[in-house]
Amino acid sequence: MSNINILAISGSLRPNSSNAAIIRQVTAFAPPGVTINQYNGLATLPHFNPDLDNDTPPAPVFELRTLLKAADAVLICTPEYAFGVPGSLKNALDWTVSSGEFVDKPVALITASSVGQNAHAALLLTLGAISAKVADDAKLLIPFIRTKVNSDGEVIDEEVLQALKMVLKALIGAINDQ
Ligand SMILES: Cc1cc2nc3c(=O)[nH]c(=O)nc-3n(C[C@H](O)[C@H](O)[C@H](O)COP(=O)(O)O)c2cc1C
Repeated sequence: MSNINILAISGSLRPNSSNAAIIRQVTAFAPPGVTINQYNGLATLPHFNPDLDNDTPPAPVFELRTLLKAADAVLICTPEYAFGVPGSLKNALDWTVSSGEFVDKPVALITASSVGQNAHAALLLTLGAISAKVADDAKLLIPFIRTKVNSDGEVIDEEVLQALKMVLKALIGAINDQ
């Protein structure tokens, strides 16, 4: 497949986020013909409300759904907060449960946090609930993330850099296998 379009979602809203740094690094690894755009609407999404979950949802929800539909794959990169998934990220996923944008969509999940295993496991459950396709090689848990990104927002850990390349390869492979 040519001209692959991947939507990246960071579960961190921080301007100097290490998860945003990881998305920048994966974007830099993207081969010709693969475009990765970061979704920037997480902070403006309204709280999920089933009564507003219809064909004419609030504008930010419509925008999210449109971007997801247009994407060949989704890269989610997130920290863990209080042993769980950041609320803003879970909120975004909840807006897609009935509209179904993730059904059969190739997804890579990178949880980059101090520890992160609870959020990673919980997100995999949620992604299963919304029928996303998460290949084994497209799941990556990166603990001690703050030691692996420098103050310029660059990923400096060689093992992580190699792992990010493998995740991107697995995600592109899953798109091409569709
Ligand atoms: C309120 C709060 C709660 C946190 N809870 C956890 C946690 O439960 N598990 C964990 O691994 N890291 C936790 N952390 C640390 C984050 O993983 C760490 O700050 C990470 O770098 C945040 O990602 P970011 O740099 O992309 O914003 C927490 C951080 C904050 C601010």
